[in-house]
Amino acid sequence: MSSSDLALPITDPGLEQRLRTRLTLVEKALADNVVSRAPFVTEAASHLLEAGGKRFRPLLVLLAAEAGPQPDADDVITAACVVELTHLASLYHDDVMDEALVRRGADSANARWDNHVAILTGDFLFARSSELTAELGRDAVRIQSQTFARLVEGQILEGVEPGPGDDPVAHHLDVVAGKTGALMATSARYGAIFSGASAEVEHALTAYADIVGTAFQISDDILDIASESVESGKTPGTDLREGIPTLPVLLAKRSTDPADARLLELLDADLSDDALHAEALTLLRAHPALDEARAFVVDRAHEAKALLGALPEGPVRDALEAFADAVAVRTA
Ligand code: IPE
Ligand code: IPE
Ligand code: MG
Ligand code: MG
Repeated sequence: MSSSDLALPITDPGLEQRLRTRLTLVEKALADNVVSRAPFVTEAASHLLEAGGKRFRPLLVLLAAEAGPQPDADDVITAACVVELTHLASLYHDDVMDEALVRRGADSANARWDNHVAILTGDFLFARSSELTAELGRDAVRIQSQTFARLVEGQILEGVEPGPGDDPVAHHLDVVAGKTGALMATSARYGAIFSGASAEVEHALTAYADIVGTAFQISDDILDIASESVESGKTPGTDLREGIPTLPVLLAKRSTDPADARLLELLDADLSDDALHAEALTLLRAHPALDEARAFVVDRAHEAKALLGALPEGPVRDALEAFADAVAVRTA
């Protein structure tokens, strides 16, 4: 994506211009930080960076920094670079876990090369992210480590069945908060910290982004079912094919309606078969669980926006509100 094409909905022209200018600096830092002494490692590490991506997490750092007295601090750019490198690394690993072939409209690294290259390139990117975090000081290193631990826990727990007494939806929401909410929350938190925002604003922005991150992931999972296009740069239907639990599926599984018997049977079956996968996708698209999941996301967006009362009214708060709304009704 070019920096002239911000993925955040910003209506204030001055703010938009500032974010574009700042994002250009982040892009430069990102490009510099994926360079290795080994040309092949550089090629593998720059593969998904150059393929595209919305850059939501660095944008959240930059936008949150606008709420502090020093939005132009150099550490804000470094922090924006840290969160995107961490995210990028997690995508290399995630595509191995999910056996995904397409990412950011390009071949995934596991498809382009193999699982070993994808995993080790992810590790290389995590290493680069850690090195940069060290420039931000001890607190940032601690926050980054805790964030990464939550992300990894979420990724692991996604593949672990909830215990016999545990609610599968509650288990799933915990997974989502870890694998996606945590890094989004840290993005906003870094923006607040490194621009010198008050503790009150830092806490509000962190809580806001945690919820928005969860809503963002669930919206993405809804799109994986509802979208028929490859506009997302990924292959729709992947979660279902891989048997990865998502909110619409878990809500559908709560149904006791006999009319849902075939869908429930399919949701417990091996959907690597094309015909069964297509049948399950068609039934799920028509099921009320999809709208129930959408309503859940809209509620989360309201909850997140309510936390922004800690910020003064103005373009920054407007942009954060618009971001929460956009996440709730994602179409791509
Ligand atoms: C993909 O994140 C993983 C999810 C949390 C759904 P993004 O949708 O932010 O991916 P890019 O960075 O734009 O490719
Ligand atoms: C997103 O994984 C979370 C992380 C990469 C940590 P998903 O598997 O849910 O997202 P997509 O659909 O592949 O982007
Ligand atoms: Mg995936
Ligand atoms: Mg995954």
